[in-house]
Amino acid sequence: MWCAFMVIMPLALGLSPSTWIGDSLSIIGDLTLKNLTLPGTHDSGTYYLTDTPMPGDKSEFWTALYELADLLDKDVGVVAKDWAQSQDQDFYQQMLGGIRYFDLRAGWQNVTKTWVTFHFVEGYPVQYLLGNISQYLKDYPSEIVVVEMSHFDGFPTENNIEVLKQMVLNTLGQYLQPVDLTFSFTVNQMISTGKRALVTMSSGFDNTVIWPPSTFYGTYADSPDLKKMVDFNNKTVEFFMSQNWPGQLFQISWTLTPDTDTVLETVVPWKPHTLIQLADHANIALPSFYTEMKKYGWRMGNILVIDHYEKSSILPVVWGFNGIPY
Ligand SMILES: *[C@@H]1O[C@H](CO)[C@@H](O)[C@H](O)[C@H]1NC(C)=O
Ligand SMILES: *[C@@H]1O[C@H](CO)[C@@H](O)[C@H](O)[C@H]1NC(C)=O
Ligand SMILES: *[C@@H]1O[C@H](CO)[C@@H](O)[C@H](O)[C@H]1NC(C)=O
Ligand SMILES: *[C@@H]1O[C@H](CO)[C@@H](O)[C@H](O)[C@H]1NC(C)=O
Repeated sequence: MWCAFMVIMPLALGLSPSTWIGDSLSIIGDLTLKNLTLPGTHDSGTYYLTDTPMPGDKSEFWTALYELADLLDKDVGVVAKDWAQSQDQDFYQQMLGGIRYFDLRAGWQNVTKTWVTFHFVEGYPVQYLLGNISQYLKDYPSEIVVVEMSHFDGFPTENNIEVLKQMVLNTLGQYLQPVDLTFSFTVNQMISTGKRALVTMSSGFDNTVIWPPSTFYGTYADSPDLKKMVDFNNKTVEFFMSQNWPGQLFQISWTLTPDTDTVLETVVPWKPHTLIQLADHANIALPSFYTEMKKYGWRMGNILVIDHYEKSSILPVVWGFNGIPY
């Protein structure tokens, strides 16, 4: 009986997804972001989408979406939504679920003069997403977050981008981790100083508290095929482990990317009908990949991003890579 008890002893950490950083400080507190793998969501803001296409998002994909809309006799915005939505929880819920990195795509809505998130079609105002993060950091004082704000479609002017930057400063200002591309600060230091949010912008960054886009070395397989994605990530993890990547956090994407065929095959009954279904297909393959990477003594980058995260094993996987017993 005592033996069995000893085996489950690590549970004494009392690890919970909502507070897992604070719960594991005895293990990760003196490490830097370069030493960790944080769990993130891909296209994080797509939990709510309208039917309105984002101007300037001229992806080739739109041709297939129009064709599919025609086949199904539906509005193109409705069809786009099925292939654009990759998450279904807001940012506060995602943080409660353990997510600590957001891929926040922002676009300028020139009719309402607001910044909104988007993926083909438009979603909620960026202010809502930043507000969720700020509320979480206030409610959970031992948690940290990394936010990558990118894309900036919709033809924003420099003034519009300045508005976005001011929104970040007003909403998250007190929490912003000053730029330090040597990443010499530890998790404990982020928590004790309260500077618990690392935020990048793809333009309009200032190198004081808004980090540059080069902070991330991004990778993704760009394929709807699971085997190709696994092979790609096998090579990518090896590439990551082969050098130090000074000044950067390395991102690995456990995601499948639909192509025009994937979209048109929506009409085939046994093929995925939505991006969420495609994601679920990828997510079941993560645990065995994790086991293999652990065997080599490798980790899946500094940031591991995934679609439909709550139906995946991303939390136990990053805990495992970070040496946190669960
Ligand atoms: C943490 O990362 C730094 C810089 O990449 C490295 O020198 C150090 O060995 C790492 N420490 C641990 C415990 O992994
Ligand atoms: C808004 O963007 C659309 C699409 O790019 C463009 O046609 C329109 O002229 C713009 N309107 C304003 C007020 O800038
Ligand atoms: C988070 O944002 C959503 C809108 O996306 C909002 O409905 C919700 O009230 C916010 N939650 C918190 C805790 O601020
Ligand atoms: C990863 O690559 C190695 C060879 O470099 C191979 O032996 C292994 O089977 C691959 N694993 C996966 C999951 O593709």
